[in-house]
Amino acid sequence: MKILFYDTKPYDKESFERVAQNYPDISIEYLNTDISARTVALACGYDAVCVFVASDVNADVIKALSNCNVRLILLRCAGFNNVDMNAAQKYGVTVMRVPGYSPEAVAEHALALAFAVNRHIHKAYIKVRENNFSLMGLTGFNFNGKTAGIIGTGKIGAAMCRFCHGIGMKVIAYDKYPNPSLDFIEYVSLDELFARSDLISLHCPLMEDTYHIIDLAAIEKMKDNVILVNTSRGALISTEDLIKGIRMHKFAGVGLDVYEEEQENVFENREDDILETSVTSRLLSFPNVIVTSHQGFLTHEALEAISQTTIENAISFEKGEPIEQNLVN
Ligand code: NAI
Repeated sequence: MKILFYDTKPYDKESFERVAQNYPDISIEYLNTDISARTVALACGYDAVCVFVASDVNADVIKALSNCNVRLILLRCAGFNNVDMNAAQKYGVTVMRVPGYSPEAVAEHALALAFAVNRHIHKAYIKVRENNFSLMGLTGFNFNGKTAGIIGTGKIGAAMCRFCHGIGMKVIAYDKYPNPSLDFIEYVSLDELFARSDLISLHCPLMEDTYHIIDLAAIEKMKDNVILVNTSRGALISTEDLIKGIRMHKFAGVGLDVYEEEQENVFENREDDILETSVTSRLLSFPNVIVTSHQGFLTHEALEAISQTTIENAISFEKGEPIEQNLVN
């Protein structure tokens, strides 16, 4: 099976090459460019394309893939909101994904963001490098004994619940479908979670009913000096409302691995660009906000698991027995 790999980063190539060497029937060609209406023609002659979370796999792209006889889109990620599934259905292109690769990788990053904003690690790092050993402005609070509110207790949320429990927090959660394995947590309504939590971490998917689940009304229900962390999807939070909340001094800290405007930025070096939209820049101007660029998944273990499952997806498709739970359509 010949796979064309779009938007390759060195760490992708390294982990896929390592796994692919055990599968002689798979050959992968790596492109730096992402898939688009202009670059999709390069996929002619391949059996499958492999794309990532920020690739815009729209109806035109899918139609062009189908015209080239490419029958399989391999998503090397869990989310598939970047793929036009109606078009995939219409043109008979199969979409496969990696539903869970390392929930702990993402939950550890969520916890890292919570610790970092709480103890001002981002400021302390800069200050000490400038020989400023003053502790002014660096006071945090103990997480131990406080309450963590976890929204969405699937694979990643459950790992986050365990971590927060492990550092001595009381863990409360909101999910439409409670997870019975988490017997140490208390499920509450969303409003109660907002009112009681010292740390709120988002782990539900982006859907119609979770779009802007954190808006001004939600922020107003939160405790003062709450810490808010989002490693799930940017549009769970209304950025404009978040900025209002930050200006109201609602938050001790905000840690974001995902944010609404990330599509253009994600995984790109734009240090010489003048960013045309100001929402992200405004967010970055606040001293109690840390933004990372969708790196929750980025551990060696997660990359290895992504490569392994993606290649197994390709092989199972080729055999005519696609792995059921990894099929999107
Ligand atoms: P999952 O499917 O295992 O869990 C999602 C949970 O959210 C489920 O328990 C579900 O019942 C719950 N849920 C659904 N609708 C809800 C609602 N309206 N309110 C509250 N809870 C609701 O998914 P998993 O693997 O835990 O991933 C969670 C999210 O993490 C993904 O949707 C994805 O957006 C994000 N993610 C981020 C990564 C990163 O690098 N920052 C990497 C991987 C995933």
